[in-house]
Amino acid sequence: MNIAVNASGVTETIYLKDYTPPAFAVQDIHLDIRVFDDHSIVRSTLQVQRQHPGDLILLGRDLQLQRIVVNGQQLAENQYQLDAEQLIIAELPDQAIIETEVIIHPESNTQLEGLYQAGSDLFVTQNEPEGFRKITFYPDRPDVLSVFTTRVEADLKYPVLLANGNLLETGTVGSDRHYAIWQDPTQKPSYLFACVIGNLQVLKDRYTTIEGRDVALEIYAVEKDIPKCQIAMQALKDSMRWDEEHYGRAYDLDNYMIVATSAFNMGAMENKGLNIFNTSCVLADPEVTTDAAIMRVQSVIAHEYFHNWTGNRITCRDWFQLCLKEGLTVFRDQSFSEDLQSPAVQRIDDVSVLKSHQFPEDAGPLSHPPRPDHFVEINNFYTATVYEKGAEISRMMATLLGKEKFRQGTDEYFYRHDGQAVTVEEWVAALSAGSGVDLSAFLTWYNQPGTPTLAVQAAHDAQAKTLTLHFKQSIKSHHKYPSLKAVPIPVALALFDAESGEQFTLDCTDLFENQVKDGVYLFTQEQATITFQQIAQKPVISLLRNFSAPVNLDFDYSDAELAFLLRHETNGFNQWQATQALLERILLQDHSVDVYLQAMQQVLPQLAPQDPLLASRLLDVPTESYLASRIDQNYQPEFVAEKREALLNKLAQFMGDFWKEIYQDFDPDQQQEFSQAMGVRALRNIALSMLARHGDTCAFDWAFNLYQHTTNMTERLGAMRVLVWNNAPQAEQVLADFYQRFKDEALALDQWFMIQAAHPQADQQQIAQLTAHADYDLGTPNRIRAVTGGLASRPVNLWQNVGVEHFIGLAKLMDEKNPIVGARMIQVLSRWYTLAEPRQHEVKAALQQLQAEVKSKNVVETVNSMLAI
Ligand code: BES
Ligand code: ZN
Repeated sequence: MNIAVNASGVTETIYLKDYTPPAFAVQDIHLDIRVFDDHSIVRSTLQVQRQHPGDLILLGRDLQLQRIVVNGQQLAENQYQLDAEQLIIAELPDQAIIETEVIIHPESNTQLEGLYQAGSDLFVTQNEPEGFRKITFYPDRPDVLSVFTTRVEADLKYPVLLANGNLLETGTVGSDRHYAIWQDPTQKPSYLFACVIGNLQVLKDRYTTIEGRDVALEIYAVEKDIPKCQIAMQALKDSMRWDEEHYGRAYDLDNYMIVATSAFNMGAMENKGLNIFNTSCVLADPEVTTDAAIMRVQSVIAHEYFHNWTGNRITCRDWFQLCLKEGLTVFRDQSFSEDLQSPAVQRIDDVSVLKSHQFPEDAGPLSHPPRPDHFVEINNFYTATVYEKGAEISRMMATLLGKEKFRQGTDEYFYRHDGQAVTVEEWVAALSAGSGVDLSAFLTWYNQPGTPTLAVQAAHDAQAKTLTLHFKQSIKSHHKYPSLKAVPIPVALALFDAESGEQFTLDCTDLFENQVKDGVYLFTQEQATITFQQIAQKPVISLLRNFSAPVNLDFDYSDAELAFLLRHETNGFNQWQATQALLERILLQDHSVDVYLQAMQQVLPQLAPQDPLLASRLLDVPTESYLASRIDQNYQPEFVAEKREALLNKLAQFMGDFWKEIYQDFDPDQQQEFSQAMGVRALRNIALSMLARHGDTCAFDWAFNLYQHTTNMTERLGAMRVLVWNNAPQAEQVLADFYQRFKDEALALDQWFMIQAAHPQADQQQIAQLTAHADYDLGTPNRIRAVTGGLASRPVNLWQNVGVEHFIGLAKLMDEKNPIVGARMIQVLSRWYTLAEPRQHEVKAALQQLQAEVKSKNVVETVNSMLAI
């Protein structure tokens, strides 16, 4: 056993290899939850049945045990063992009824885990992964599935009483209280239990499934937010239809409820039939919500809905298997969003997230396999690697199989494992059996950390008319995983005639009998060579199309070839990929900017009117944070920022007329489709910032005018950003105006905090002003994230005292108040060791000091890993 010592004593490491099934199953559980102002009482009755020899282990944390009764007999203190984490009853008969009563304190629960008060009028639960043990004693592990019956009782001032499943009964208790009894007929693990007690309004709709089930749909929110629930409701119905059409999966209960709360650590939670959502992931209204946030609402609604099959009906055996449900479900929500808007732009946005979050994570001290094999605190493993790399693994298998076989594979998975708690191995085995293709090699992707590098070399033989591609994969060794294996890499590729720009049909042979099928070559060895026939002239090679594998590509393109791909590639994602490769050379390897500028000037004016959304993405310039993740030593944030600024200035100048045209001639209100209008707004916001950068005096007037007259939040924020970040004379006025207009719209006010925290010259005084503001609130993670997110988006400020002190101070505060959030925030500093001196030493010292002070498993494990480099 690996035991780490920290300020609170010891923390234990849990290993995948130590998994053992539980001694007892729980056939059903009756919960009785009574909420009072200063405490709550929870009674539970479990019917347990022995499966294996051993004690009954009930997990429980921060529970005041009142009594425990086994088969009608109250236990004396010497008849069970109780410590801070569990209650153990030895020598139970094979069947038993266990009754417990505990007192808990949701009204003072600031960690937002278990049952907690979320504002003055609401109590909600968050039980994934291990929150249920803070409600009652229970085998709180995902492989114990049970039927839940729940009685919720509270004061009449809370008219809404919800739990999972069907409503069986309601009634009053005395003159001022009432209750509701709910029963969920599907067996589920405790992490999917939810209940809600509060004063909320509801938006209702209905949906008829393909199987003919009439489902009541309900979204609960505070009264003023109900009109902002329409977009989410439509997304819910679209998701239900999409899962029927694409995976043959229909909904299985008579109701589906969603509850919005602003006190939530994460985005949203898929509790069976009763999702609980962060307001930021459900409320959407173009007057107060940006286009990007609206897209996010739709994808989060889909994500949580899709969990009903991938997560709930089939769940995880243990928390090491988290990416079984999260990776697959992210892949499913990405595919849904591709169908909803443009597939190319959706893929661009998903790959941007992967590269700017998952790649850096996998290159630093917090690197871990998508399926980890050990952890101290599972909450620390809801990571970009589990989610985004997990999604990429599912996507690679889907790419390789093609639509039809992938569907046969998932059908087999649902057929075999419905109602079970399974492992990643079982998922890959079912997919293989159903499709008839052995995918077991992909398990390596799940089991090891790091981003592989795919090096490709090309040789053209004019006489033989052949093109030979040599592939080699490598991966940096990892101190915890010394022997890393080769992984299967699907390489989607195309060859283009360098003169006509036309695509060749591929005719290929190789040494390992692997053919290039449907433009995808499956590279499985450490090295391989393939040869294409009938290629008379040296072609331009497009590799890793649609980002067919999550790897770093090392291929010696010339800038001219990349510019060619930007012009001739047949899909928007691949065009974008060419722009990003060009920009990385310019920003990190001192290539000249000319080829890029000329190619952009050729492509954009034509593309912008046709596909404004794609045009806006082709203008993406890698963020400073992403560029930083490519620099492993002697990193100087100022230097990277200067280079990036210089490039943007050139782009502003070079295409000056284009920006003016875009701003003046393009009108989002003239667009038929939301995604086109969104594209126009994105382009105009870029144009405005380019004009301001260019020093065009009209830019501030235009921005100020737009700010005042638009009713659209994307435009209003775009304008405000330009004025504030450029220190325009109107900046103070718009900030004051925005505050007055939106001080009661928490999510809009988050943007106000964010823009100021992201000011290029934000200093200690300005950040202190924000965190001392009456509306800054450590109890609302969204508000904290507004400031941290803004600050972290400017690495120059992040790595100054202003940034480092903010994050260290926050971690100290949150260590006790909300350790889940505290541990996430401090990760922002995980690449401290790449900094140039003297910064590196200073940040390290600050982290070491933090390490000595913190107590929660969450923050301790994170800081320990960050320093173990
Ligand atoms: N199951 C998670 C929510 C969760 C995560 C609860 C960690 C507790 C701890 C949910 O399905 C989820 O993944 N939510 C994401 C959004 C999603 C669109 C990727 C989130 O909350 O960020
Ligand atoms: Zn999820």
